[in-house]
Amino acid sequence: GVVRVLAISGSVRAGSVNSAILRAGAALAGAEVKLELWDGLKAVEPFSEDDEAAPGAGVKALLAAIAEADALLIATPEYNGSVPGQLKNALDWASRPYGRSVLVGKTASVIGASPSGFGAKWAQADLRKILGACGAEVVGEELCVAQAHTVLGEDGLPTDEELRTALTTLVATLVEAARAAKAA
Ligand code: FNR
Repeated sequence: GVVRVLAISGSVRAGSVNSAILRAGAALAGAEVKLELWDGLKAVEPFSEDDEAAPGAGVKALLAAIAEADALLIATPEYNGSVPGQLKNALDWASRPYGRSVLVGKTASVIGASPSGFGAKWAQADLRKILGACGAEVVGEELCVAQAHTVLGEDGLPTDEELRTALTTLVATLVEAARAAKAA
């Protein structure tokens, strides 16, 4: 059957290279994959334990989107050597209640894109650690998209064959793992 992948960009700006990479990933995904780019990150309220009993609309939308998805594909920018606060905030919400949250056992893959030469390497490492701490199953290799503002063509797809293959492979690996988890 169809595998539903929730794609989350750690950047909420309109011209985000991370969002653009996720759109490319969606275009390269197989026919049996429903990969949707989530646009609700900006609306997720700041985390507070005081609000956990009655979370806001932004949080509810986040939890529902993750719960409905078979897998998560997160593309993160790097802010000051780590993940952006808005992404960490969303993951903190999604991690609750600890050990029984929508993230436990969720198959996930990580991409990082930056205009620099490093491709958000540190942010990806931190994101993998955070997802692991939340009980998600991180699969696939690190994918550092460096000089990310130059890598996509007019059609929104990677112009470079190597990146195109790496992105296609990462999405396929994620989908395969999610399919296996579903069957188990
Ligand atoms: C950055 N940027 C950045 N880049 C990087 O490679 N390492 C870093 O530590 C940082 N730190 C950082 C902090 C803050 C507050 C901002 C706003 C930016 C640059 C960053 O990679 C660039 O803005 C990307 O284009 C952000 O990704 P999106 O929004 O294009 O997806």
